[in-house]
Amino acid sequence: MITIAIDGPCGSGKSTVSEGIAKKLGILYLNTGAIYRAIALYMLRNNINSNNINSITDAMDKINIEIKYLNNEQHTFLNGEDVSKQLYSMEVSDASSVFAQFKEVRDKILHIQRNLAKVQSIVMEGRDITSHVLPDAKFKFYIDASPEIRAQRRINDEKIIGKPQLCFEKVLADIFERDERDKNRTISPLILVEDAIYINTDNRNVEDVVNDIYKLIKSKKD
Ligand code: DC
Repeated sequence: MITIAIDGPCGSGKSTVSEGIAKKLGILYLNTGAIYRAIALYMLRNNINSNNINSITDAMDKINIEIKYLNNEQHTFLNGEDVSKQLYSMEVSDASSVFAQFKEVRDKILHIQRNLAKVQSIVMEGRDITSHVLPDAKFKFYIDASPEIRAQRRINDEKIIGKPQLCFEKVLADIFERDERDKNRTISPLILVEDAIYINTDNRNVEDVVNDIYKLIKSKKD
């Protein structure tokens, strides 16, 4: 069994890279951000305020998250509903980073993540995978990119799917705000752990990064 833990900020390319590595190795890929997003979606739908800890605790008791793989693709189910396609709006992105600050939310997700990694080889990607969820992972990577490049990638992604052009300054401000929350929260913040390999993807394409990581894993696997 092989466990690969990958962390990094939003838009660094970590999801695409992680998925590519998992495919090349023929093992499972888990995007943990999708779970935080599904919980945020529930909070938004039910008007749960992030200032009200009691309502967050109550809501967590009512939330059931399941991860299923259909045609090799991760699908995230919120109380039986496949919400995978509803997780990537700006509103859900912001809310996921806000609700991710709470212990009540993180504890529940921790079990889902560790249970999946216990029974099979996996590439798991998020913010606290190398530091907290899978601290004993054999391979650890931190994928990074500058805020400006990450903002531009976000704008390009939206353009590709035919959405109206986003404002660069607005997207950049949003990235700074999410970074600030994800890196400075009290519980399990995004950090670069000592034994992770740091990769900056600013001027690199996904295939190159995937190949580098793949070669490294292959050379040290046994
Ligand atoms: O990876 P992402 O952008 O889809 O994650 C959305 C939010 O979820 C992110 O801003 C913070 C939170 N998150 C987290 O706190 N820990 C993780 N392991 C993954 C995501």
